[in-house]
Amino acid sequence: MRLDELLGIEYPFIQGGMANIATGEFAAAVSNAGGLGLIGAGGMNPDSLRENIRKCKELTDKPFGVNLMLMHPLVDDMEKVVIEEGVKIVTTGAGSPGKYMDEFKEHGVTVIPVVSSVALAKRMERLGASAVIAEGTESGGHVGEMTTMTLVPQVVDAVEIPVIAAGGIADGRQLAAAFALGAIGVQLGTCLLASDECPIHEEYKKAVLRAKDNGTVVTGRIAGTPVRIIKNSMSREYIKQEKNGADKMELEKFTLGSLRRAVFEGDVKTGSLMAGQVVGQIEEIKPIKEIFKDMYAGYERTVNKLGA
Ligand SMILES: Cc1cc2nc3c(=O)[nH]c(=O)nc-3n(C[C@H](O)[C@H](O)[C@H](O)COP(=O)(O)O)c2cc1C
Repeated sequence: MRLDELLGIEYPFIQGGMANIATGEFAAAVSNAGGLGLIGAGGMNPDSLRENIRKCKELTDKPFGVNLMLMHPLVDDMEKVVIEEGVKIVTTGAGSPGKYMDEFKEHGVTVIPVVSSVALAKRMERLGASAVIAEGTESGGHVGEMTTMTLVPQVVDAVEIPVIAAGGIADGRQLAAAFALGAIGVQLGTCLLASDECPIHEEYKKAVLRAKDNGTVVTGRIAGTPVRIIKNSMSREYIKQEKNGADKMELEKFTLGSLRRAVFEGDVKTGSLMAGQVVGQIEEIKPIKEIFKDMYAGYERTVNKLGA
């Protein structure tokens, strides 16, 4: 079964839960455009998460979900908010949702963890996850080591539950490739930054349009907190210090509040402009509906070409 059939949506697309970016309003816009919108709880607290869920419900009658970052200090309270507000789809990142699984099941919540390895995917299947999102290192934001091309088929072979591909998907050819690797659908992040509805600062959007194929870099590989961002003065200085053996605390000075500076203030010099390697393909800002339509039409063209 494909993701669109599984979730009752028009396109087999999930919008990645992006902390500080994916508000209730943005998630509703994605859901109204035919994908699955997710509220990114990473940058929120339990009260603001509740407000965003209520806002999303006001703006759409289509399915939507919440992305819980499990390292968040208030995640226990956030999980309660998700249950109380009747959210039915949860994706999780940065850890294991094990301790919440019974409660999620009891309330009919579909749980879809993000994984970066086969071992983690198998663990999530044993815990009772409904599907997994296999996310490759091409992605924007926090990343693992494996590429989408190598990770997705290995996860598909290792688990019985459905697999959704994430990382490096921004057009119909890549969507077709994800299906060819055995995924039932895809999760998108970077290409949705370049949408009319995305609430990031205009300067952040312009940086996405400007960036070329090799315009991103991963900071924090040595410290064990790898994050893919667009190259700028901050990333250059970070990597210089990292190579010189700066400790975790020193490096944190660069990243503290840096995503918020990029998103809200448009600080493209010292801000953390999270984005994936597909930035080089993105040339214009479009409405979400058009991004989805164009990607799907490109997928159909690709499949027809392959068939011929
Ligand atoms: C700006 C940005 C912020 C992100 N923040 C989160 C997050 O808070 N939680 C999460 O699970 N994934 C996060 N991601 C990853 C996305 O959910 C998604 O899996 C990824 O962007 C897909 O790869 P792509 O960027 O190549 O499309 C983020 C990605 C971006 C670009």
